Amino acid sequence: MIDMSENLLQLKEVKKYFPIKKGLFYKTVANVKAVDGVDLSIGQRQTLGLVGESGCGKTTLSRIILRLIKEDSGSIYFNGRNLCAANKKELRQIRKGLQVVFQDPFNSLDPKFRVREILKEALYALEKYETSEFEDRAVGLLDQVGLGRDAIDRFPYEFSGGERQRIAIARAISTNPKMLILDEAVSSLDVLIQKQILDLLLKLKDELQISCLFISHNLNVLKNFSDRIAVMYLGKMAEVAPALRIFSEDNLKNVHPYTEALILSGVRRKVSLKGEPESLLNIPSGCRFHTRCPYRKDVCRKREPALELKKNGHFIACHFR
Ligand SMILES: Nc1ncnc2c1ncn2[C@@H]1O[C@H](COP(=O)(O)OP(=O)(O)OP(=O)(O)O)[C@@H](O)[C@H]1O
Ligand SMILES: [Mg+2]
Repeated sequence: MIDMSENLLQLKEVKKYFPIKKGLFYKTVANVKAVDGVDLSIGQRQTLGLVGESGCGKTTLSRIILRLIKEDSGSIYFNGRNLCAANKKELRQIRKGLQVVFQDPFNSLDPKFRVREILKEALYALEKYETSEFEDRAVGLLDQVGLGRDAIDRFPYEFSGGERQRIAIARAISTNPKMLILDEAVSSLDVLIQKQILDLLLKLKDELQISCLFISHNLNVLKNFSDRIAVMYLGKMAEVAPALRIFSEDNLKNVHPYTEALILSGVRRKVSLKGEPESLLNIPSGCRFHTRCPYRKDVCRKREPALELKKNGHFIACHFR
């Protein structure tokens, strides 16, 4: 039995600032605080939906977890191993357990390679195969993502956007990962195809018993997919809650005011709040959301609210919710 309470992924106080340098001496004049102290955990076979406006730091966070960039500080544990302290060899091992599907299958699939080579590269990273064994495994993977065996001899450009995303998913599951990071994996697809890919991901999640970190700027996309929802605002979590609490309709006054605005704005990309999103270069004092919050009071400008447990499994960073 797997202990469900045990976290597969655990982030503590993770920070990543991108310095902006200027002048003759290339001095740091400001920092883009893309990830500004994030605590997060995902259990075995759990899916966490991560939502937030464009530019709030979601991809930066996923790139840190995938070790494509290094954090400035904080700790990350995956499957009981400290990712921040792992050496190259250990990282290669860890990566097999932690795969990713990005938004744009045009850029993530090498156009020079046929599907056979794309899968070969992924599969051979795990172990050596006899040729016939490899073909069987590759065709099996294609079948799992709803593509026929003829796909193996074709190039990425010969497929539609949705089919390309299926190839990216086949590659991602080829190493039997424990967790998939899906960074806006359906955002570039039209609604009908989006639904098909979401259904495929739901099926695979169930079949393969994997955990997911599903990133989207669109709360609706996460609705049927997530056990828990994390809401990110300017580099930090505003709220982490069971999905049912976020999506129950009579609950608007029990969620973070930013989440409330996201829910009310529906599928639109920008939140319909007064004022533009603040910049990561100049994060407001106190509660970072206070400049756009319709419920703000004096204290919100002065004191930053901690991400606090308010009810079973429901964390909110707000003085009044
Ligand atoms: N390598 C980098 N150097 C400097 N700044 C960066 C770098 N990568 C990201 N940023 C900045 O960090 C901030 C967060 O970017 P990030 O891509 O993480 O946002 P996001 O939430 O994924 O947005 P989107 O929804 O548009 O994908 C942005 O202001 C971005 O310009
Ligand atoms: Mg992004």
